[in-house]
Amino acid sequence: MKRKWYALTALLLCSVFLSACRAPSQTADPALVLGFSQLGSESSFRIGNTKDMERAAKEYGISLMMDNANQKQENQINAIRRFIACRVDVIAFSPIVEEGWDNVLAEARQAGIPVILVDRKIQTADSSLYVSQIGADFYQEGVMAAEYLLRKADSSGKDRLHIVEITGTENSTPMKQRHEGFWDTVAGDGRIVLLESVSGDFLRSRGAECIRYLLEKYGNEIDVIFSHNDEMTLGALPEIEAAGYTPGEDMMLISIDGGQEAVDLLKEGKISCIVECTPMLGSLVMQTAQAVKEGRSVDRAIHPTEQVFTSDDDLSALAPRGY
Ligand code: AHR
Repeated sequence: MKRKWYALTALLLCSVFLSACRAPSQTADPALVLGFSQLGSESSFRIGNTKDMERAAKEYGISLMMDNANQKQENQINAIRRFIACRVDVIAFSPIVEEGWDNVLAEARQAGIPVILVDRKIQTADSSLYVSQIGADFYQEGVMAAEYLLRKADSSGKDRLHIVEITGTENSTPMKQRHEGFWDTVAGDGRIVLLESVSGDFLRSRGAECIRYLLEKYGNEIDVIFSHNDEMTLGALPEIEAAGYTPGEDMMLISIDGGQEAVDLLKEGKISCIVECTPMLGSLVMQTAQAVKEGRSVDRAIHPTEQVFTSDDDLSALAPRGY
């Protein structure tokens, strides 16, 4: 009886999900139903990514079942189980952290539903649990941030640069790989000295809290702030100014993402460098989902091309960022 009730509820949820998510222009029976678990709404990157997934689904005539996990892995696992119960054609998700996915992805495989990782990666001993990962090369982003710093160290002629690092969500791919890429690149360069690395969870409010703590502890010893995303940078900036420092002069800020608000501050010279991390992954995800559904082979890893913007560049021709 309990089972029957569960099956009925799942069926009802699926039809509500499908009718709510189907674009008006689509036929009653879409060629492809994609279940997408978004990890949250923590940043302009994330909100831009959600919008781009919705836009691309409409463009490709794909029916999108979207669920926002509000920063909780448990919610993502539940959403994936609902997608399986609804028998979607393909599941996509942006894993908040790297570990803990094997069981639910084995359930998806058992149900014959292919899985695409969007943006972030997972750790698993069984690489057949997903077909493709579509997202940035986060290690390379860390490398590009460090290369900018080394160029600045050369041109300034300084023999010491003290750095504080504000990292993203613990155990997430961008947090781990941006950190590694950055510190691997400056390793062995005696001028670059880490004062402290603290976690800001990719949130604006945490960026403010972290820099308040760091300024109190190190004050004007800080030369460089390496922040793992724009949101935390935007939280840190007013605190730096309130403490009496001029960002871009007293302290150099290096950020990642390249959303409009941060780019505007880069143009003002308050942020010195931004490594782009584009959220515009929707078209790549939809094309890959279609290929998988049709049994065509897909690339195991798909990385969009990304650029570096600095306050020394002429950015007057840069198109509106869209996030
Ligand atoms: O996974 C990508 C990162 O997640 C972005 O850099 C950050 O803004 C987001 O929260």
